[in-house]
Amino acid sequence: MRTKIVAGNWKMNKNSSETTELLNQLQSKMPKTSAEVMVAPTFVNLAQAVTQLAASSIEVVAQNMHFAENGAYTGEISANMLQSVGIKTVILGHSERRAYFGEDDALLAKKVDAALKAGIRMIFCFGEELQDRKSGNHFKVVEAQLKNGLFHVGKAHWQHIVLAYEPVWAIGTGETASPEQAQEMHAFIRKTIATAYDETTAQMVTILYGGSVKPGNANEIFSKPDVDGGLIGGASLVAEDFAAIVAAI
Ligand code: PGA
Repeated sequence: MRTKIVAGNWKMNKNSSETTELLNQLQSKMPKTSAEVMVAPTFVNLAQAVTQLAASSIEVVAQNMHFAENGAYTGEISANMLQSVGIKTVILGHSERRAYFGEDDALLAKKVDAALKAGIRMIFCFGEELQDRKSGNHFKVVEAQLKNGLFHVGKAHWQHIVLAYEPVWAIGTGETASPEQAQEMHAFIRKTIATAYDETTAQMVTILYGGSVKPGNANEIFSKPDVDGGLIGGASLVAEDFAAIVAAI
């Protein structure tokens, strides 16, 4: 059985006191689940979130990290810094990082290596843009993102890798990929991993769907056989909605 995960990506939302409040609400509303539940507050609130959730099964994860171990990289955060405040998982390659901060496959490959070297688990994000889907290139684009950013790693490392397929046209737009579109792409991703590695690796990896997942559509999306959970943006900022999405898994 693959690990099921529901992760909330808070992006650049919630200051320190708002973080405390949302985590309090989440703790009181969270349903019992066998899935892993994660939240990703902004960097400056990670340490307080780890302390607040010390007795909770909700894991605090980071939204990004730099590839270098330390050095002259003003404004950046290393894997070791994250680990030193209790972070064990990091989101890499979110489409907003790719689109607004110039993160390309080559840079992400370095971040992947840095995470693996440090022993930090990653949620590796990728997905096609609207024009790719319209032109029928979505499978090719996704395959290239995986090959160029991730497929250089050895098979043994895949136990530290979670994938998040997030079609860019569905992020924050209210437009969700249909459950059938998500399933079709997730099955394609698994097949691509099986070809590059082997069937066992492909069957083991958790593949999340992200892009406008809401309480109203989570059930149907999560019911698809190759969808192992979700990376949730907007709806993770509302405790009732995030709890309802967790309940759907
Ligand atoms: P959304 O964001 O749920 O607001 O569409 C998803 C994401 O960016 O991970």
